[in-house]
Amino acid sequence: FRIAVLASGRGSNLQALIDARRAGTLPIELVLVASDKVDAYALRRAEAAGIPTLALTPKSAPTRAAYDADLFARVAAATPDLIVLAGFMRIIDPAVLVPWAGRIVNIHPSLLPKYPGLHTHRRAIEAGDALHGATVHYVTAELDGGPPIACAEIPVHAGDTPERLAERLLVEEHRLLVACIALIAAGRITLDGTRVRLDGAAL
Ligand code: GRF
Repeated sequence: FRIAVLASGRGSNLQALIDARRAGTLPIELVLVASDKVDAYALRRAEAAGIPTLALTPKSAPTRAAYDADLFARVAAATPDLIVLAGFMRIIDPAVLVPWAGRIVNIHPSLLPKYPGLHTHRRAIEAGDALHGATVHYVTAELDGGPPIACAEIPVHAGDTPERLAERLLVEEHRLLVACIALIAAGRITLDGTRVRLDGAAL
């Protein structure tokens, strides 16, 4: 099962996939790690793991749409079965997503549909939420709005800062992402229109 990962930064979620694959618990092939940032640490992690990389800066294209088309053409050339957005900090042109419907997922650090977009940890604290979490979902044209696959929850502690909350959540994100990718790679989770199915049955 061939996977391409798009990441803009640190790449700890990518690392979780690399580690699980190495441990033999995730039967996937990481065929490409692509980034919009030349200095993304995710690219260094990929290189260290012997995974092909692509750094493509948005300045390389005249428009956002042209950039997205170019990026996705290059990703498609690696013939992934699934694209994983793991800290990819760009909104993708919906037109480019069309052929990838049901074959592209994202991990977002909130209990969607709460807090799409940025600053999710701060927003959960400011709202006084007792629970925070992360969600893996299929990617559609709507930002952080595609069908959710699964989430991981953690309690918000009194006196939590966004940084502390993010740090505790990250551990759970890694487990959640690996678990979701394992189900997808095994063909057990699929997207049927807007419905997520487990072993062919609607969830
Ligand atoms: C994670 O919190 C992920 O949920 C969000 O961006 C962060 C990426 O972290 N989309 P990393 O680059 O995987 O370490």
